Amino acid sequence: MSDLHNYENLRLIKTFGRLKGRPLSKNQKLGLALHKQEYNFLETEKKIWLEVGFGNGHHLVELAKRNYDKLIVGSEVYEKGVASACFSLFQNKIQNAKVFHGDVRNMLNLVKHKTVERCYILFPDPWTKKRHKSRRLLSSSNFGYFSKILKSRGYLCIATDVEDYCIEIEDTVSNLKQFKRIHVSPKEKNFKFFLDIKTKYEQKAINKGVSPSYLIYKKV
Ligand SMILES: C[S@@+](CC[C@H](N)C(=O)[O-])C[C@H]1O[C@@H](n2cnc3c(N)ncnc32)[C@H](O)[C@@H]1O
Repeated sequence: MSDLHNYENLRLIKTFGRLKGRPLSKNQKLGLALHKQEYNFLETEKKIWLEVGFGNGHHLVELAKRNYDKLIVGSEVYEKGVASACFSLFQNKIQNAKVFHGDVRNMLNLVKHKTVERCYILFPDPWTKKRHKSRRLLSSSNFGYFSKILKSRGYLCIATDVEDYCIEIEDTVSNLKQFKRIHVSPKEKNFKFFLDIKTKYEQKAINKGVSPSYLIYKKV
């Protein structure tokens, strides 16, 4: 894992907006100070669940609390999100979660194939303008990252509130023989896979009267 910084120089299309926002609160500063950028945390006996782009970390913390027998790994580029999540993990004395601060693709480039049992990508940045569509995290060119690290019979759990993104994902996956579609109707949230809590962006969509889509694919 030590050559991570070499990979950071790879020219990846940016799938995110801001890296930093308003100044950090006292607790967020503490969270960031407690954060250790480790590269070997996927070497574990535990089953690994990954959450990509965890935002404020609320869902990540809940996943960890409810699945203490798993190692929950979160990846996020946004400093304030990393800081909040790390503070919350500390405050809740959570031992079974690790945070990667950076572009998930840099982390996934360095991990062994087939190590992750479940991967959550909840409300990825939608990039709705035509000229920005190539920035979507779940573009056909990025799917390979998630396919590579998932174990066979592992699950990819995705949520989006953007209809045309949902269609793009469904189209992409239907052309990939390594995934089987599990969800019956995207509008039904299957609580065997998704938590009964709402992420910040899920709540925002619902407040606007938009009903999100919830997609589950099984690696075959
Ligand atoms: C629209 S927000 C959704 C946050 C959260 N999942 C939610 O539902 O409230 C998308 C998040 O993904 C993060 N993100 C985008 N591309 C990423 C990447 N390549 N690696 C890690 N995080 C990424 C962004 O920084 C942002 O916080």
